[in-house]
Amino acid sequence: MESTHCKIVVLISGNGSNLQALIDASVHSNFKIAAVISNKADAFGLQRAQRDDIPTAVVEHKDYEDRNEFDRALMESIDSYSPDLVVLAGFMRILGAEFVSHFRGRILNIHPSLLPKFPGINTHQRALDAKEKEHGVSVHFVTEELDGGPVIAQDRVKVSKDDTAGSLAEKVLEKEHLLYPKVVSWYAAGRLKLENNQATLDGSALPEGGVQVHP
Ligand code: GRF
Repeated sequence: MESTHCKIVVLISGNGSNLQALIDASVHSNFKIAAVISNKADAFGLQRAQRDDIPTAVVEHKDYEDRNEFDRALMESIDSYSPDLVVLAGFMRILGAEFVSHFRGRILNIHPSLLPKFPGINTHQRALDAKEKEHGVSVHFVTEELDGGPVIAQDRVKVSKDDTAGSLAEKVLEKEHLLYPKVVSWYAAGRLKLENNQATLDGSALPEGGVQVHP
């Protein structure tokens, strides 16, 4: 039975609420979390994994001379679990070209903005500063370009005049927790692919912005 499940490795750096959503969904879904790897030993997400007897590993960037060495160690750690898919969930390190090309087409990221708007950090404050009426979350394939790979799906929230960066983050996180397990299950079912740098679902190329969960 287990062999029919898609094996995923989740990479985290912090709280791991998206990891928790994946753990909870995996109980009734078509994927199984083979391991959780953090670049920070004190990431709370590691405790979430341990609570569910999911193997954990820590690969700390400060233990390596440079970015390439770190990337290689991380790659080896991930490969030791032979995952079908690598899932970045609040993983706060920029990954190099060798790493990205090694996992090309089998690595996803979740980003708290409606890409291509606001790649990088502080997305909620930047959305407020730009007076956006809508904000949201994107799940995308990881490519060499930071937060720039083909978008698979987005969900959105309304920005109200009382919103702060904190309240927006909360609203967006709620959407993240629903969207990420859904996209991972598409991949696990063999429905989602990266072909010629284009995300496809059920064999059809996805439009820019991907599937709009709530258009
Ligand atoms: C989320 O907003 C995610 O989109 C971003 O980092 C945050 C991680 O939150 N990449 P958590 O660790 O999953 O709670």
